Amino acid sequence: MENPSQNLKTAPLLSLRRFHISEDYGFLLPNPLTELPDHFRPWMEIASELPHLIESHQLQARVNKMPLLNCRFLRGYREQRLAHLVLSVMTMGYVWQRGENQPQEVLPRNLAIPLVEVSRSLGLPPILVHSDLVLTNWTPRNPERPLEIGNLDIIVSFPGGESLRGFILVTVLVEKAAVPGIKALVQAVNAILQCSQNSLLQALQRLKLSIQDITRTLGQMHDYVDPDIFYAVIRIFLSGWKDNPAMPVGLIYEGVSTEPLEYSGGSAAQSTVLHAFDEFLGVCHSKESADFLHRMREYMPPSHKAFIEEIHSGPSLRDHILSSGNGQLLTAYNQCVEALADLRSYHITVVTKYLIIAATKAKGRRPNHLPGPSQALEERGTGGTEVLSFLKSVRDKTLEAILHQSD
Ligand code: HEM
Repeated sequence: MENPSQNLKTAPLLSLRRFHISEDYGFLLPNPLTELPDHFRPWMEIASELPHLIESHQLQARVNKMPLLNCRFLRGYREQRLAHLVLSVMTMGYVWQRGENQPQEVLPRNLAIPLVEVSRSLGLPPILVHSDLVLTNWTPRNPERPLEIGNLDIIVSFPGGESLRGFILVTVLVEKAAVPGIKALVQAVNAILQCSQNSLLQALQRLKLSIQDITRTLGQMHDYVDPDIFYAVIRIFLSGWKDNPAMPVGLIYEGVSTEPLEYSGGSAAQSTVLHAFDEFLGVCHSKESADFLHRMREYMPPSHKAFIEEIHSGPSLRDHILSSGNGQLLTAYNQCVEALADLRSYHITVVTKYLIIAATKAKGRRPNHLPGPSQALEERGTGGTEVLSFLKSVRDKTLEAILHQSD
């Protein structure tokens, strides 16, 4: 008979490096590039003027005149990531330049072909994703000083001014606040593999603190992001062309496919952090929520998705705690679950302020004779889900993971 704990001891240990995750920056791309080689100057010139070009409705004309550039001249991973960021923000601007009632349904070949090419190389979809807008879109003003809003800039922007900057940079700081939690998770998995209860207990306590720090950091949204600007300006450029009544059949990528293609918009549901915590803590979501969340994994860099899958196929923390009969471990586990549910409750209050209340206010302000966005669109999130019931279900299912001594 095999001894299961012997098997655990011989399993390879989990490491961040294997999944290209940084010890210092977690899922954030460390030191993202801010410039591309000279060959790509036409892209970078447009990128540097995007807010103005979109607001003055000149972007489409500029993109139509842009030369078709060859992605083979991109040297290495970090240039590809910057190219994906630049081309995908340009795409959002191109599609939504005239607002959500008049989307552009065909992306011209000089933008569509390089976007699809660089997306294939990176294993990402050809649309703006969290790994562009947040993970690749930050740069320190002074690299010697700590990462805080006053010492950070974004690289590529679209309309939304200081609120857009705040929205992106607060999310960057949320990813940074998750770094100790990701490391604690790796420590915990390895502690189970090595049967070290002390190390596991310490890792769970660290994970709880990191989740609480994420919640505190999320609170900075209130200081830097104006809900009316988020709702009326920023949200539109995050919208995708899947489950979106404004673009019911999707977007034609000229030179790539004659059929329209459908992709969801950018959302922090594409951040790897909470997916990793859910898998590690053994949180089980309803089928509908799980279907959406699993689909969002296709919008992550493939190595980050592989990290989530590795945790999923690793040892079960819940089984380990129950079979250990260790009350301290059980308490520490439950505190992580509660902290995660509290984070999700807090996120619901943020979404209520920035989407639900802001939508009601916008409706009240709109003169009757002007057409507004369809009601279906207003009640949906940037990723196209029926927001509040989805988020509450995800929060409630988190709480159901709480373990009882008798389980
Ligand atoms: C103004 C700020 C924010 C708004 C309005 C917002 C809105 C939303 C919406 C509408 C959804 C539903 C899914 C979708 O439609 O895409 C969602 C999901 C989600 N958001 Fe946010 N969000 C905000 C900030 C953040 C931040 C900073 C994070 C942290 C990384 C975050 C993490 C998540 C996660 C993980 C989900 C998936 C559901 C879950 O696992 O609980 N959100 N968000």
